[in-house]
Parts: sequence; structure tokens; C-alpha cells
Amino acid sequence: MSTVNRLSTKIDENVPTAARMYDHYLGGKDNYAADRAACAELDRVVPSTRRLALNNRRFLKRAVRTIAEEYGIRQFLDHGSGLPTQDNVHQVAQRVDPATHVVYVDNDPMVLVHGRALLQQDESTAVIQADMRSTEEIFDHPETRRLIDFSRPVAVLFNSVFHCIPDSDTDGPLAVVRRVRERLVPGSIMLMCQLVSDDPEVRSFVTDFMDQVTQGHWGRVREQKDVDEWFEGLDILEPGLVEVSTWRPDNEVAPRQLTHEWIEYGGIGVVR
Ligand SMILES: C[S@@+](CC[C@H](N)C(=O)[O-])C[C@H]1O[C@@H](n2cnc3c(N)ncnc32)[C@H](O)[C@@H]1O
Repeated sequence: MSTVNRLSTKIDENVPTAARMYDHYLGGKDNYAADRAACAELDRVVPSTRRLALNNRRFLKRAVRTIAEEYGIRQFLDHGSGLPTQDNVHQVAQRVDPATHVVYVDNDPMVLVHGRALLQQDESTAVIQADMRSTEEIFDHPETRRLIDFSRPVAVLFNSVFHCIPDSDTDGPLAVVRRVRERLVPGSIMLMCQLVSDDPEVRSFVTDFMDQVTQGHWGRVREQKDVDEWFEGLDILEPGLVEVSTWRPDNEVAPRQLTHEWIEYGGIGVVR
């Protein structure tokens, strides 16, 4: 049986969402009191979360720039793209080459509304509402087909998103990764990271807390070994799978996590 949640078209201010909580941590304005209250609650157990979020976003920027500059990729499919913020994927990639195409995918209706407003004039970028587990629907979506040529290498991003979906043989992260990889030509890139913790109490507290506040739109805080498994069979780029603030750091000053109850862990693999 499929574990994919039905897509909501309604924005409910009273039920926190991962997208809006993350927006709050990044200093954005597209969030409500319920999202901010949930973040405050979370901070009591995992106080480094704001810094973790900022570092995660900086990693995404560095990674996209590297993929475009060093690996020459000109098409990106971004799963769980989040609310628009500064330096979104298309802006970073199009700075390297304005002809780059980007498709954003998210299941949160608010992402769709804000994303479409931002992209009104942009013919080379689209945002679609879909569940990241619906690979066929995403790959066959008219906007994806218009913008992405799967006979050429593409960068597929799953940045800080797999903790939002539970394990499942058919729709868990590993199943999704395998399904997506089969559709990519050699030279394509898969970027993946998620929230992990060595501490079983943190894993279980945050998993239960987020599941409760988001009313079931959550998966699991995992361990590094779970993430390692997704990369099997890919050629992993240097420096390997790491806490993402240490992935090819640049000159941008990043606030370091003061404590490490949980970290964002992952990296980039190339399809052989
Ligand atoms: C922590 S944010 C990450 C945003 C962005 N990828 C980044 O790293 O800056 C997680 C995003 O995944 C989205 N998301 C969660 N579950 C999803 C699902 N099943 N399908 C598509 N998007 C999902 C959320 O709406 C949210 O925007």
C-alpha cells in the first residue's frame, strides 16, 4: 500500500509545517505563530537548530554552485525545495549560466503560492506541487518535461527532506532514491542530506514531537548509516558524506553549531 499523503491545497495556519518552521529558522516572514511556537519548543531539546538550518542552506548554495561550475550541470530537479528565500537554487545556478533550467517540487501549498509569485516572469524555472515520493508523477509532469531533458545529466536534489518521510519498502527514502536513480543517465548528480543524531533519545523525541505537531507529515530523524546506504553505487564527491557545514566550506562566515544533538549529514554522488 502506498504511504504517500494526499496533497493539501489549503493553508492551515494552526498546524505547523516543516516548510514554515524552516522559514522561521532562516529568518523568513512566511510563517505563523503556530510554526514559531513549535520551533521554540524544539529549541529546548535541540538548541542548535537555527544554526543548523542556516548552515544547511549555505551548504545547498555551495553545492549548487559547485555542481554548475565544476560539473557543468544545467538542469536541476529540487525535491522539497522549501519556501523561497535569498539565493534560491535557480538564482545560484543561473548566476553560473542564465540558461539553466530548474524545477522545484514541494507538497506544501504555501510553497506553491510563494514560488509561483517569485517565478512569474521566469520561463526557465517552474514550481510544481507533488509529493517527493511520487517519482513518476514528478518526472512525467508537463513542466518537468518542458524544462528537463533526461537524456542529459541532471542534478536531482533531496536537500534536508528525507526526514520528512517515514521508512517504507515502497516509498521510504531508499526506495525513492533507487527509483530516481534508474531514470538518470551517467554523469547525473544526486545531492542528499537529512537530520541525523547519534543520541537515541534525541531521535525518538524529535521524531515523535514533529510527527505530533505536523499531524503526521513527518518521517524520522535517522543515523548516519541510513544516509550512507542511499549513496551505495554512486561515486561520492570529495570530501565524502559529512556534516554539511564542512562540505567544501567557502569564505561565507557561517555560525557554527554550538552543540551537536543533531546534525545535517550527507553529500553528493554521481551516477555511473
Ligand atoms: C527543511 S525544508 C528543506 C528546504 C530546502 N530543500 C533546503 O534545504 O533549503 C523541507 C521541505 O520539504 C518539504 N516536504 C516535506 N515532505 C514532503 C513530501 N512528502 N513531498 C514534497 N516535499 C516535502 C517541506 O514542505 C519543506 O519545504
